[in-house]
Amino acid sequence: MQRRSFVKNSVLASAGFSILPSSSLFAQQQKIKLGFIGVGLRGQDHLEMALRRNDTDVIAICDIDDRMLGMASKKIKEFNKPAPKIFTGDPYAWRRMLEIKELDAVLIATPWEWHAPMCIESLQAKKYVATEVMLGITLQDHWNVVKACEENNGNLMMLENVCYRRDVMAILNMVRQGMFGELLHLQGGYQHDLRAVKFNDGKNPYGGGVEFGEKGFSEARWRTNHSVYRNGDLYPTHGIGPVAEMLNINKGNRFISLSSFATKSRGLHNYIVEKGGANHPNASVQFALGDIVTTNIKCFNGETILLQHDTNLPRPYSLGFRVQGTKGIWMDVNKSLYIEGVSKTNDQWEDAAPYLKQYDHPLWKKYSSSAEGAGHGGMDFFVFQAFVESVKRRTKTPMDIYDAAAWSAITPLSEQSIELGNQTVDFPDFSGGRWMQTKNIFAMNDEY
Ligand SMILES: NC(=O)c1ccc[n+]([C@@H]2O[C@H](COP(=O)([O-])OP(=O)(O)OC[C@H]3O[C@@H](n4cnc5c(N)ncnc54)[C@H](O)[C@@H]3O)[C@@H](O)[C@H]2O)c1
Repeated sequence: MQRRSFVKNSVLASAGFSILPSSSLFAQQQKIKLGFIGVGLRGQDHLEMALRRNDTDVIAICDIDDRMLGMASKKIKEFNKPAPKIFTGDPYAWRRMLEIKELDAVLIATPWEWHAPMCIESLQAKKYVATEVMLGITLQDHWNVVKACEENNGNLMMLENVCYRRDVMAILNMVRQGMFGELLHLQGGYQHDLRAVKFNDGKNPYGGGVEFGEKGFSEARWRTNHSVYRNGDLYPTHGIGPVAEMLNINKGNRFISLSSFATKSRGLHNYIVEKGGANHPNASVQFALGDIVTTNIKCFNGETILLQHDTNLPRPYSLGFRVQGTKGIWMDVNKSLYIEGVSKTNDQWEDAAPYLKQYDHPLWKKYSSSAEGAGHGGMDFFVFQAFVESVKRRTKTPMDIYDAAAWSAITPLSEQSIELGNQTVDFPDFSGGRWMQTKNIFAMNDEY
């Protein structure tokens, strides 16, 4: 049945393309011109994705850090691609980049606090926008970007790569075929020991010191301050993105409310003392961020979601996914599932691997060799490809502004809930009711 629906979708999709007006066909075939704002470590990953393709030209890059610009330029040379125009010198140099008329799309990979203004002005300049995760800081930021997108009839996609993780997509495939029955409860999160990312020696990105802020390098320069001043789920999108796709959030379903709980804060302080000594000036910094922040979300269609943010303690990496419905359950930590009537074992976990193989998503089946060597186990290829193909076709991106806003707004809402003594707070409907009519277009076939 799954095969049939994918075949049907692919046939419909290709039939759709064959009746496109010739101008759209041209748009589909031409190369697109890209500009990058922020070519730090993540921006360089995306840059490499662009350089590996033959349907994208990188015509402009912008950053305020000479070292990052140097690394990006070196990469461009290594790929034998023409040197782009460089915009630098002040924190608003990107505004000059947005004046380039022929620029089709802008990719933003800067510190979180810059995303909202950069997204808004890129939309106003009528560019397709891809932004790295987090749409803004405050709830108002999120509303402002949504408004700019609507007013300019724009397209904005948040580059949430975990939506394209191979096992996650296979599970999505199974969900869409009803293997888990009706979904009831999903879990996910960001459970990643970031202590050596939040602190470094100011020269190398990972560890080697306990500096942050002006003395830190890469993410330690800006990300750590969010742990000093904010207490909430600071990085919800890797966990919520895949879960939201399975639940059709903003496409017939929506988040209704959430409440968050934070533990006390110990991990970051202990790390500084352990690695830098009790007399290091950073040993006196008070971190607002609780080490483990747990958020419960209620959805319109009656499902619940549990999200965890856990980045300050020694622990192996795990996004902690769990997908549970009336017929079965999958958990990624033990790489196991159980499906009533299908699993050979009775009430026992079964290795998920054969199922993940059998239900491998058509996108992965088709593009796994292209994705080879791309960041984060290949998923970076898919998220970049989805954006580029949408720009080429001048069509909607598979994850849209309302997804970006809803997923990213979990942060300010969780801060609010914790501030209010774990009160349940209402989730705004950024879509203004459009969620009732919109259909999910994420990964419906093997195109992009
Ligand atoms: N999806 C993922 O897997 C993933 C992985 C890593 C980072 N990220 C996200 O990517 C984004 C960037 O993170 P990073 O790791 O590259 O950080 P980074 O610090 O290495 O890079 C940020 C870059 O932005 C530049 N910048 C800062 N202010 C600027 C301005 N006003 N104008 C132009 N450039 C400016 C900095 O100089 C730096 O080069 C963040 O949103 C982060 O959360 C996502």
